[in-house]
Amino acid sequence: MRILATGGAGYIGTHVVLDLLEAGHDVVVVDDFSTGERQALARAQEIAGQTCEIVASDIADGAVLREALQGVDAVIHFAAYKRVGESMERPEHYFRNNLGGMATLLSAMVDSGVDRIVYSSSAAVYGTQEVLPIPEAAAGRPDSPYGLTKLQGEQMLEWMADRRGWSATSLRYFNPVGAHASGHIGEPVANGANLFPRVLDAYADARKALTVFGTDYDTPDGTCLRDYIHVCDLSQGHLKALELTEPGHRAFNVGTGRPHSVREILDGFERHTGRRVPHTDGPRRAGDVPAAAADPSRFHQATGFEATRDLDEMVTSAWRWFTQNTNGYR
Ligand SMILES: NC(=O)c1ccc[n+]([C@@H]2O[C@H](COP(=O)([O-])OP(=O)(O)OC[C@H]3O[C@@H](n4cnc5c(N)ncnc54)[C@H](O)[C@@H]3O)[C@@H](O)[C@H]2O)c1
Repeated sequence: MRILATGGAGYIGTHVVLDLLEAGHDVVVVDDFSTGERQALARAQEIAGQTCEIVASDIADGAVLREALQGVDAVIHFAAYKRVGESMERPEHYFRNNLGGMATLLSAMVDSGVDRIVYSSSAAVYGTQEVLPIPEAAAGRPDSPYGLTKLQGEQMLEWMADRRGWSATSLRYFNPVGAHASGHIGEPVANGANLFPRVLDAYADARKALTVFGTDYDTPDGTCLRDYIHVCDLSQGHLKALELTEPGHRAFNVGTGRPHSVREILDGFERHTGRRVPHTDGPRRAGDVPAAAADPSRFHQATGFEATRDLDEMVTSAWRWFTQNTNGYR
């Protein structure tokens, strides 16, 4: 198949582009490199031993998209801003890029006759939920502008499926972590405000010791529980999702269903490195939910997908990437 990957130079996109190339697909990436890295794509192509086309552009440019969509069978739409905290400070920035950019993409797809899309959604569409693990049927209650953009992106696809007969699959990622087994591609520390990059940052510079926000939650060790999924498992999930060709919109959780606490993650790094993660315990942070975990069964039933990599592999691969690339892709 010929696949257009918007945002294919980002953390998750690079891993998926690599897997697509290895599976024999033709790939064209449209990326404005606002957070993505040319070097990451270069390395993905080198590992795969195959090349992809790269179009350096904002997805807001419909003419460029129409050109890039020539001969394309399906789109995987990663391009978006993803920082929850930043979206609280600058919501309009997120509305413009995540919703405005996506609306332009959908129009260009209509103009080009492309009717299949896999969309990077997020567990952020759920906000705070009482029932764990979270089923897809749980009402969307995003508690950030970022989460709202992800939910509204899904709703746009629901209407495109309903009105234009598209085949659309929204993947609600939980917490993607880790790196490719080669250690050559991974998440640049500067890119993420998430726990794994913060742990690595603290190792790099003890002055950036991380704070464990809340140690008195009603969880086994008092720290927050999250559903971490290895980025290489998540990547394989995209290849499975591409096989779903029936008209209609479907949304799936992509997680493991086996949450880990912040303390377990720190212990995992300490076991692997033999060094303490520089950190201090702090008070709870406003807006954090005590626990989040996916019910991943629906995606498994629909595609046979199963995440196989465990916490040790998440930690080991993240550490390998970090120690081989102390300055990220620079
Ligand atoms: N990483 C996570 O924790 C996580 C969790 C849930 C969902 N997601 C979603 O997955 C997708 C990919 O996330 P990621 O972690 O790889 O992020 P990332 O920032 O590494 O990648 C995003 C990519 O999109 C590009 N981009 C952004 N706006 C663009 C625009 N207007 N035009 C063209 N390119 C643009 C960036 O340059 C970058 O290459 C995003 O949609 C994000 O919301 C990520």
